[in-house]
Amino acid sequence: MIRLIYFATAFIIATGLGACRNDSPSANSHQTPGMAREAPRPTTVASERPVPKAGAGNFENLVADYESKDRVIWQKPGMVIALLGDLKGKTVADIGAGTGYFTFRLVPLADKVIGVDIDPRFITFMDSVKVRLPAQYRDRFESRLAKPEDPMLAPEEADAALIVNTYGYIENRVQYLQALAQGMKSGATLLIIDFKKNNLPIGPPDEYKVALSQVEKELSAGGFEVVQIDKESLDYQYIILAKKK
Ligand SMILES: C[S@@+](CC[C@H](N)C(=O)[O-])C[C@H]1O[C@@H](n2cnc3c(N)ncnc32)[C@H](O)[C@@H]1O
Repeated sequence: MIRLIYFATAFIIATGLGACRNDSPSANSHQTPGMAREAPRPTTVASERPVPKAGAGNFENLVADYESKDRVIWQKPGMVIALLGDLKGKTVADIGAGTGYFTFRLVPLADKVIGVDIDPRFITFMDSVKVRLPAQYRDRFESRLAKPEDPMLAPEEADAALIVNTYGYIENRVQYLQALAQGMKSGATLLIIDFKKNNLPIGPPDEYKVALSQVEKELSAGGFEVVQIDKESLDYQYIILAKKK
């Protein structure tokens, strides 16, 4: 618990929420390869790609990985968030929020930010960050324990959603995107960021990754229209911007 409080406090400093800044390096001192994924589990997905297992592994190691000091350099959270445009008055859902790396950076910018995750440990972690937020931001954040096949959004609840380093964890992705679309307003923006293939030094092994072309196909089948693809701005990840049809 003391370690959790330490991480939560370090997190608020890292995200600049105390002073309302973005892109500050994390204050925690762990350095692990970014976004390590856990061992594969048996899967019913038709493809040969192993699906990483959410929720396994040592929690403190996962937190240290997601919040690693160097992540701000390759993840460029300020640039990523700018892709969502003006968020004043809007509700944003961060799907697979984890520690809230993006969630809490969005809180000062949006009306409401929902940190969605299926792992209760991350829900507890985000809630421990919430109680330390400056008072004016506290009510803008809500954590939501969801199901692997359903983000548990109310109909048309979100104006925007992001799925960062989480897409590969989702098993039946077309059905998942359809459920997500139900929770988004017509024309709402969906931002997906995940790791490029090619055995890069950051990210999971190639066999866990979902190819960009596959994501494009699934988005179309899931009720979204791809509006922008960017393979260059981030060294290790592709960016896809889509709109709910
Ligand atoms: C690698 S972490 C990424 C966390 C965060 N988006 C980030 O970039 O720091 C993946 C997260 O997705 C969550 N997750 C896995 N499957 C999920 C699903 N079907 N729905 C929502 N969250 C899921 C895991 O519990 C984990 O917190």
